[in-house]
Amino acid sequence: MIWTVFLLVHAVLLYFILTHRTRSKSEPPLDKGVIPWLGHALEFGKDASKFLNRMKLKHGDIFTVRAAGRYVTVLLDPHSYDAVINDPESLDFTRYARVLMERIFSLRLPHHQPNTAKAMMRKHFMGVNLTTLNGTMSRHLRALLTAEMPPNQKHWKDEGLFNFSYSLLFKAGYLVLFGGEQNNNNSPDPSSVYEEYKKFDGLLTKLARGTLKPEEKRTAHRVQQRLWDLLAPAGLTEDSGSSLWLHGYRQLLKEEGADVDAQIKALLMQLWATQGNVGPAAFWLLGYLLTNPEALIAVKKEFSHVSQAAAAAASETPLMDTPVVTPVFDSALEEAMRLTAAPFITREVVQDKTIHLSDGHEYLLRKGDRVCLFPFISPQMDPEIHREPQTFKYDRFLNDDGSAKSAFYKRGRRVKYSSMPFGAGTNGCVGKKFAIHTIREFVYLMLTHYDLQLCDPNAQMPEVNASRYGFGMLQPEGDLRFRYKPRLTHKSFS
Ligand code: HEM
Repeated sequence: MIWTVFLLVHAVLLYFILTHRTRSKSEPPLDKGVIPWLGHALEFGKDASKFLNRMKLKHGDIFTVRAAGRYVTVLLDPHSYDAVINDPESLDFTRYARVLMERIFSLRLPHHQPNTAKAMMRKHFMGVNLTTLNGTMSRHLRALLTAEMPPNQKHWKDEGLFNFSYSLLFKAGYLVLFGGEQNNNNSPDPSSVYEEYKKFDGLLTKLARGTLKPEEKRTAHRVQQRLWDLLAPAGLTEDSGSSLWLHGYRQLLKEEGADVDAQIKALLMQLWATQGNVGPAAFWLLGYLLTNPEALIAVKKEFSHVSQAAAAAASETPLMDTPVVTPVFDSALEEAMRLTAAPFITREVVQDKTIHLSDGHEYLLRKGDRVCLFPFISPQMDPEIHREPQTFKYDRFLNDDGSAKSAFYKRGRRVKYSSMPFGAGTNGCVGKKFAIHTIREFVYLMLTHYDLQLCDPNAQMPEVNASRYGFGMLQPEGDLRFRYKPRLTHKSFS
């Protein structure tokens, strides 16, 4: 008995010594929360945006919070973001990425060279290779839309806009990068991949936080296994029907010594990285257009000029013929993403670092902590940078002369980043151009080839699912019902 009490007291003391932390004068304000070890983890996970706004009001633009035993310094001053983004020596991208890789995808790649994989991806998603991918994407989008809604269809079809946009863009993206031709008997049906993927996506934030309940854990493992089986053949051989990028990526993993299991798990990770954001982004944009008639008219007008120019040039794929400029569409997309892109940009502090902020203050960041930027709060929803930040204004990113607007100000100084849906710097999104092209093509096809209307003309945009802050594009709670049918005046896709 005495020994038990003795050991218990020592365990508590040891725990206290290991987890006790006080703030030194040179460090950012420290907020540990009242619950030992857990700190603010619950509030952070429930609605990170609300929590971080509360901390910002209490502490200002920089503070350190405790969450599940880790200390995270959050920086919310966009004038100072480069101090984090541009110092990969002290603030490492890959360590935290590896933690997530293991938690979400059960994946370990001990000999992986992230820089080689990224260079390969850049090569495949730029220049002529990108043009080829864009062309293949256009073809698949047209074929999938025709399959959903034959051109001779006379009746309206009702759908949930989120489900419609996500599934269609997922299937198109999957076919372009992973699966080869639609209706190819050797490749899995993209719809079954999407059905499994959606279940996985629904559990993703809990997987990342390690908060799955036992039943959810079992579901997650089952779904993962099914997705691994479906993805197994992708990229195996050059004629597997997958993109050259995927084949090259799989080759690289093999050369690095990854076994077949690890290769397949890595494919699921890539499926998420390449398909998880495009559909939700397209949904928000189309949703905002349908609920803002003035914006819808402006984008349609711009697209109708594109169609007319293409008809004059006898072009079958209007947006493929460079240079097609669409500043109104670009502004509307940027605006939709300003409101709904909410990634954390997280780095691990691998050596003590003094960070210099734009207001002249400097703070010590401790080795072993994490640093997190949350551009959603600032610049994106910062009322000093964007007036009425909660409101969708399709022309927010347009100058009076109709050109793209990039000059936005905070504390009298121009901000380098007025919105950061794709991150920034060396670890920014490699697929940005491909993603934007895909969304533009999809919205163009929807608006020029179909009549679209809300099922309830007074419907408002759905609320966001608050548990997804920090994981890229937000997703809605529920859906926005709409209906569509082919436009009588438009000829079918060729
Ligand atoms: C609307 C669509 C998309 C959004 C909002 C988005 C956003 C992001 C963000 C925020 C990051 C992380 C930046 C950081 O931590 O600093 C990222 C990374 C990445 N994205 Fe995207 N992305 C999108 C589509 C795509 C597509 C279509 C692809 C590929 C075809 C892609 C490939 C990647 C890759 C490979 C990385 C990791 C870069 C690295 O390792 O440094 N993304 N993306």
